[in-house]
Amino acid sequence: MFPYALILPLTLFSTTLFAEPIPHPSQSEQQRDQFVTSLLKKMTLDEKIGQLRLISVGPDTPKSVIKQMIEKGQVGAIFNTVTRSDIRVMQDQVMQLSRLKIPLFFAYDVVHGQRTIFPIPLGLAATWDTQAVTSVGRVSALEAAQDGLNMTWAPMVDVSHEPRWGRNSEGFGEDTYLTSIMGKTMVEAMQGKDPADRNSVMTSVKHFALYGAVEGGREYNSVDMSPQQMFQHYLPPYQTALQAGSGGVMVSLNSINGVPATANHWLLTDLLRHQWHFKGITVSDHGAIKELINHGVASDPADAVRIAIKAGIDMSMSDQYYSQYLPGLVKKGAVTSAEIDNAARHVLNVKYDMGLFRDAYSHLGPVGSDPKDTNAEDRLHRQEARQVAAQSIVLLKNWHHILPLQKQGTIAVIGPLADSQRDIMGSWSAAGVAQQSITLLQGMREAVGSSATLLYAKGSNITDNSKVQAFLNLYEPAVVVDQRSPQQLRDEAVAVAKKADVVVMAVGESQGMAHEASSRTDIRIPKAQRELIDAVKATGKPLVLVLMNGRALDITQQDGQADGILETWFSGTEGGHAISDILFGDQNPSGKLPVTFPRSVGQLPLYYNHLPTGRPYDFTHPNKYTSHYFDINNSPLYPFGYGLSYTDFTLSPVTLSSPTMTDHHTLAASVMVTNSGKRAGATVVQLYLHDPVASLSRPVKELKGFQKVWLQPGQSKTVTFTIDKNALSFWNQEMKWVVEPGQFEVMIGTDSVHTQIKSFTYQ
Ligand code: NOJ
Repeated sequence: MFPYALILPLTLFSTTLFAEPIPHPSQSEQQRDQFVTSLLKKMTLDEKIGQLRLISVGPDTPKSVIKQMIEKGQVGAIFNTVTRSDIRVMQDQVMQLSRLKIPLFFAYDVVHGQRTIFPIPLGLAATWDTQAVTSVGRVSALEAAQDGLNMTWAPMVDVSHEPRWGRNSEGFGEDTYLTSIMGKTMVEAMQGKDPADRNSVMTSVKHFALYGAVEGGREYNSVDMSPQQMFQHYLPPYQTALQAGSGGVMVSLNSINGVPATANHWLLTDLLRHQWHFKGITVSDHGAIKELINHGVASDPADAVRIAIKAGIDMSMSDQYYSQYLPGLVKKGAVTSAEIDNAARHVLNVKYDMGLFRDAYSHLGPVGSDPKDTNAEDRLHRQEARQVAAQSIVLLKNWHHILPLQKQGTIAVIGPLADSQRDIMGSWSAAGVAQQSITLLQGMREAVGSSATLLYAKGSNITDNSKVQAFLNLYEPAVVVDQRSPQQLRDEAVAVAKKADVVVMAVGESQGMAHEASSRTDIRIPKAQRELIDAVKATGKPLVLVLMNGRALDITQQDGQADGILETWFSGTEGGHAISDILFGDQNPSGKLPVTFPRSVGQLPLYYNHLPTGRPYDFTHPNKYTSHYFDINNSPLYPFGYGLSYTDFTLSPVTLSSPTMTDHHTLAASVMVTNSGKRAGATVVQLYLHDPVASLSRPVKELKGFQKVWLQPGQSKTVTFTIDKNALSFWNQEMKWVVEPGQFEVMIGTDSVHTQIKSFTYQ
């Protein structure tokens, strides 16, 4: 029943995460360097500059223009082309028309699947299961490579405390450790043993750096951050992904303490190259070089190009500036030919690592082998998608055990997301085809067959706000607006609900509301749907909410109305099957929140690993002059790490291998976890550490390990975490990575709030 039951849970990674540089070049890297050096000697300046250009196929650069660029050696890589036949044409042009026949590489945003779409990354993080995420990475890489791609713009490892930011959906949540583990898992899975392999692709970790901390959660905004916060909480996931071997880095669009990342020599050269020894490519984000003028750090396009290349941007994504201005800048001496060589070397390095110099068609195969139907059903991996999607679902509320539902009687399925094939895939759905995705309504129909009656009503539009509708439909008809009046839609839903024994409502956001450029100030379910929920609630029928969304929402009001709540994120091609599996108990929910659910947008930022204050609020002894809002509780609605199951788990007190820990030694912290309920199921045992007295205020707790454990009813298992010095260390006032002797608290629980605590001394 549980696909990963026999696989041992992951070990604690904290020892290697944060302070180590990336390893020095191996012998094969030396061979690569020699090859690239000799190739560079044959190249003209213009050909080298051509390698620095990453061009998107589209209206601005149609295929005929690209052909001319290829002929003149003016392009290094292409993105946004996703079929083997299209890609083959361009690689053929390189081989037949260009002087040096340097292969192109082909990239795409394969973020949570290529053709089979898996849950959005926030949902993947909610699995807390590296085996599941490995299967996502492997399948995505295989499908992308089978489409002729060599690189993906993923994983996105931007830690974010800001649900107002629409790109929460693309990342792994608010925590450094969880994001690091998930990012590393994706890199290792997608690149496989070798990114050159037939079924692997090279990754490009993004967005370097700190993009998740944009002020106010407003997209493309600036970031201002202390070095301690940066190194402790935001940079480790990028570094971990690079240590795992990611060949690429995409640079973020934000500024950092006043310096745009694209212009940031400290970030791209001192830190990335000199301290972390990164050898792959840096790619600017779309149009970012031009934007240096808007940032106010470049006076004109030539200045922007000079600043970007000197900072360490190798490839420019989708702008003409590198080709227009670099030759002149070199001629003037404002950019050196060594700087051009350096950037071109990085591009050629990754092409070498992709195996393209051995075989430019390595991911294309022989002519005639291209699939006849790129969208053929047998190219999908539905079973893997269904299993992972089921694991990503978080049971938030289960009043009087309303769930799982019986497959009997009359069930009303209501809501604008219940039958939306486009929305369930989520944003960045790569080459996924909406018509191939299973909606909740379809999944439930299949699940109940003829044993129950299903009634359906849409009930409302996703939003009745015409401005928001227009925004969502700007580039594609993503949201179909029902022309019936809101009252008519609601009346139909109420009539359906009245006939049912139980109501299941699919509500939340459209996929476009949780995407790039989709920041919100109001993170509630849109008003049209809130009014629908109110109307259905008034029927008095038992109510289960199936949430579909790409960020933590404020569901305080609906939490009071619903009997059961499932957080399903955007669950992908097989979402409707997976949600039905959970609703009807064919699978037991095991997901845990990778983000804190606030009570109100006014509490933001709200995250579990905050610092203590000098005046902590204690609700048992309320005191006016303590840190709180007088109109709302400080606590979240649902905390980080939280999620229920259809069974119960109990934890024993923590045992430690020793009351003290010394330098060069580790400490083992164990608990016994027991499935004390009646069904098989899984939970995530989470290890948090706290340093109560240090030279800097340290977070009230920090996640340092987790294990997903599958247990039969009555079964117990001892879970052991190894705590090492690194897990206790932090960046101090002098920016030194230190561990300070003294007392530490170990907290182990199945969420971040309910934990068993034990102390030890580090000396
Ligand atoms: C802009 C986005 O910020 C980035 O994440 C994406 O990879 C590129 N566009 C390419 O689509």
